[in-house]
Amino acid sequence: QLLSRMEKAKAMSEEDKLYRFNGVLYPILMCPEEHLKCLVDIKAREDDIMLVAYPKCGFNWMVGVMKKIIAEATQMKNESKMPPLMEFFGPEVMKVLTSSPSPRFLGTHLHPDNMPPSFIQKKPKTVVVFRNPKDTLVSFYHFCNNNPVLPSTSWESFFSKFMKGDVAWGSYFDHASAWNKKMDDPNVMVVTYEELKQDLSKGIRQISSFLGFSLTDAQVQQIAEASTFKAMKESSANSHGNMGNVFFRKGVQASNHFKNIEFIQ
Ligand code: A3P
Repeated sequence: QLLSRMEKAKAMSEEDKLYRFNGVLYPILMCPEEHLKCLVDIKAREDDIMLVAYPKCGFNWMVGVMKKIIAEATQMKNESKMPPLMEFFGPEVMKVLTSSPSPRFLGTHLHPDNMPPSFIQKKPKTVVVFRNPKDTLVSFYHFCNNNPVLPSTSWESFFSKFMKGDVAWGSYFDHASAWNKKMDDPNVMVVTYEELKQDLSKGIRQISSFLGFSLTDAQVQQIAEASTFKAMKESSANSHGNMGNVFFRKGVQASNHFKNIEFIQ
């Protein structure tokens, strides 16, 4: 399926790769309208575990970390057959979702206003990952130029589109600003790429206790060791096939300005 998508992508013009749904751009091959339309039908559960991150903020890193936390804490092998993003599901995966045992682990790049309404009602625990916008922009630029389902662009063009929000999943700034307003909700925990990079074990302990799990020091250490950039890049052929090197590019924090940024309300 992935291969045929890549073949289709190569045959498409760059302009046709993104389309608008409710005003936001999405990659048509990954998130066709049929898939986005059925998102509203997802019935959230109170014990779902949600991961939210704008593209390139460390989503796949946290998918790896949180899957390991859940597997250790619940003894459940979370070898889910579901794709990591709800936006990719479509009607077939939705059926799998309905019959999946709790706790289900779900992820999204969506702005809070575009979340399926049942998530707002059920308030499952939600981990939101932020990353310095400069590093996000650089990461996104390289990703677009190395992932055939996204339009490749020049740096100048991508820079101006990113600033305007004319990129897949819309504006970084609107996304961060809107999720930032939810950071005091008891079911929401905000973590930053930069904090995780600085002390991953601490982040793992904080996320685990937020999810209501208590892991031993040995379990935390084991997860941290398996989730370094080096370890995840080395195993990326298993987790991400031949896109491994694209998803796990450099894994560094290029600048330290995140703390000084105030989002314009
Ligand atoms: P770079 O392109 O700057 O290297 P996402 O998963 O949201 O698409 O984010 C991808 C970014 O997270 C990439 O950034 C990738 O290298 C980085 N990343 C992935 N795994 C990581 C890890 N274990 N530690 C640090 N950064 C990681």
